Amino acid sequence: MKKIIPLALTYDDVLIIPRRSTFTSRKEAVTTTKLTKKINLHIPLVSANMDMVTGEAMAVTLARLGGIGIVHRFMTIEDNAAVIRRVKRAQNLIISDPYTIDPTATVREVKQKVEILGVSGLLIANGDRKLRGVISSRDLVFATHDDQLVQEIMTPFEKLVVAEKGVTFTEAKYIMAQKKIEKLPIINKDGEIEGLVTMSDIQHLGQYPHANVDQHGQLIVGGAVGVQGDYLERAQELVKAGVDVIVVDIAHGHSDLMFRAIEKLREVCGSVELIVGNIATATAAEELCAAGVDAIKVGVGPGTTCITRLVTGCGVPQLTAVMECAEVAKKYNTPVIADGGIQKSGDIVKAIGVGADTVMIGGLFAGTTESPGRVMSRGDKKYKVYRGSASFDVSEKRKNLGLEKKDLQDVVPEGVESVVPFKGPLADIVAQLVGGLRSGMSYTNAHSIAELQEVAEFVQITNAGMRESGAHDIG
Ligand code: XMP
Repeated sequence: MKKIIPLALTYDDVLIIPRRSTFTSRKEAVTTTKLTKKINLHIPLVSANMDMVTGEAMAVTLARLGGIGIVHRFMTIEDNAAVIRRVKRAQNLIISDPYTIDPTATVREVKQKVEILGVSGLLIANGDRKLRGVISSRDLVFATHDDQLVQEIMTPFEKLVVAEKGVTFTEAKYIMAQKKIEKLPIINKDGEIEGLVTMSDIQHLGQYPHANVDQHGQLIVGGAVGVQGDYLERAQELVKAGVDVIVVDIAHGHSDLMFRAIEKLREVCGSVELIVGNIATATAAEELCAAGVDAIKVGVGPGTTCITRLVTGCGVPQLTAVMECAEVAKKYNTPVIADGGIQKSGDIVKAIGVGADTVMIGGLFAGTTESPGRVMSRGDKKYKVYRGSASFDVSEKRKNLGLEKKDLQDVVPEGVESVVPFKGPLADIVAQLVGGLRSGMSYTNAHSIAELQEVAEFVQITNAGMRESGAHDIG
């Protein structure tokens, strides 16, 4: 067979041609976009489902900033579901099933429970859900010892301000402002708990106006699964925990295993949307879109920690891969996530310019305060670990958790482990990335993501052009 080898490009091989702009400020650029057919985001940033990138803190913070985090799956199903639950609980309008503790529990048990659940106080009730009181961090300060019983130090029902079932969030807010209270339990006519409104949730609304939330005011979050082993059970538990979208993530998403998994996941996930990947060709995009998935994730080998292309000789440079997949996906109205290889804000503009709706980021978000793992110091420099999901370290972690059956000597890693400089708060990185995107939109006179996809025109550049693009020839 005669082989024809076409040229494929990546971000650094091209630049977008500037166009006459009507912008007077880059704030005019609207960055709202589609993650999936049904889920919209305020900014097109998705954090990678990698164990050193997306845990609870990353998912909470990124959703508050307008993006979304996809929690990784390199933990037990129980822990995975607990992380999703905590993200969903991080902010609310009316909490419909507030956490409770028994009046005969000890202060020690309260302290453990609030720590595990990540809340500042608990409602007091026994088995019948009848509200007996409230215990808050303030009450705990006045406890004399850890064996003291909750009923001795709680604020009892008689002293509580409560609202009746049916109260709206706005009415609840008003009552709390009038009575100067931080928690407002909601009860029915039998005195049973029906909900809770907290001051911290009210504050979050003002603090994070661009947060992506569901109809209950809870942050949206994704969870990842594979296509073998425990994937169905994991998906089911994540759905029960309230996950908003499931990402079926394997290295080679254009595979029979993936199509079988999609069918089975549809049965257990109900209406929860499915993002699938990773792929790098128009054919893969065509077949997955035709299978009815809700978004596709594109990228075979472009990631910072990836050595797939070196180990297997396979992959497609990312700009071409995204462009070809997006062209097909558009026909199906299926959003595209450009996953991996985003090194600078300009790469986001280019990814969207060739048709992506969002970008998934690992390396740029690793090393932030919100990424999992601790900060290490070497001399006066600080670092955090960043590693590929197909690295030996992650395989070893999976093996230790009982999630991997394969012998470790049979592992052929397609990812590396390394450290990245500690970068501080995620919000600072996101501000730079979104600022760069907005500027890129003003250079192309694109007022929306859809417009940028439509109007961006590219030139291919040489190494000299790339060298000229960065800071150069200065001391
Ligand atoms: P960045 O460039 O943002 O890329 O760090 C993140 C993406 O890299 C992919 N990924 C891997 N690819 N071997 C690979 O070939 C790996 O071990 C690996 N781990 C992560 C993944 O798509 C992620 O979102």
